[in-house]
Amino acid sequence: STPDAKAPTDTSKSKDLITVGFSQVGAESDWRTANTESMKSTFSEANGYELIFDDAQQKQENQIAAIRNFIQQEVDYIVLAPVTETGWDTVLQEAKDAGIPVIIVDRMVNVSDDSLYTAWVGSNFELEGKKAAAWLDAYLKAAGKDKDEVNIVDIQGTIGASAQIGRTKGLEDAVKQHSSWKLLAKTTGEFTQAKGQEVMESLLKQYGDKIDVVYCENDNEAFGAIDAIEAAGYKVGVDGDMIVMSFDSTNAGLSDTLNGKITLNTECNPLHGPRVEEIIKDLQSGKTVDKQKYVEEGIFSFENSVPSIKIDGVDYPVTQVTKDLAA
Ligand code: AHR
Repeated sequence: STPDAKAPTDTSKSKDLITVGFSQVGAESDWRTANTESMKSTFSEANGYELIFDDAQQKQENQIAAIRNFIQQEVDYIVLAPVTETGWDTVLQEAKDAGIPVIIVDRMVNVSDDSLYTAWVGSNFELEGKKAAAWLDAYLKAAGKDKDEVNIVDIQGTIGASAQIGRTKGLEDAVKQHSSWKLLAKTTGEFTQAKGQEVMESLLKQYGDKIDVVYCENDNEAFGAIDAIEAAGYKVGVDGDMIVMSFDSTNAGLSDTLNGKITLNTECNPLHGPRVEEIIKDLQSGKTVDKQKYVEEGIFSFENSVPSIKIDGVDYPVTQVTKDLAA
């Protein structure tokens, strides 16, 4: 016999662990890295989980393949951070048929039957867009510039992702309500720094310093856009040629808000690991879980002319970034 034929196989450990298959969008941004880290540190063996992590490199077909693989492996839970909203019905039906609960995290899915997933937790992306637009309105008023023409470019996120849909809508709705606001262009930066820079370079070639506001739909696009603006010889910030607005409020994003390169940063919170774990724990103990749950998020500014904004009767404080917050 082979030397290890009688070696005991210890299956007790893996038997006790809850198996979670997590299909992650990719690694396109600092936000995403923080999100992956939150999931990995929560769903550790020490906490009683076996995590099967799959990075889909921003491709839906990779996510669909990962989910099918999780089904084959008979995981206890599938967690999906979907790249775009549509196109999930078939694979989620397969998960449902296999009796595996699916928890959607971060962006939303748009499915014909919402029993195809058990629960969703993430951001209210449209509210984020509304907050940014309401701040711009108040900021221009405070600066006495609300009657001036305001030329805006929108560097959008991945087209079809909830984060893009909501943030673009927040801006577009506000543009419709302000006759002096002109949306010169909207084009995707795919939530990455490289694409944000590339897109900004071409926008500058086309419009130069006619641009007053660069509305970047995440921090990494803002980093790329700022590099392009500075390389073209323009200055960003309240005393510069154009202001940059961003979303996420990652550490690096808040550093750029503290130094004034980003004037407004609307938070999108990535720390979903414990939130998903709470859902799983409740399901494990037979409790009913909220079908959809929004995360509360702040608004951070370089300057303090707008202490708060009001949306649909609700006040949202605007926090001026300090060194401690950006650390
Ligand atoms: O879905 C959340 C968005 O996705 C974040 O704003 C962005 O940074 C990430 O890539």
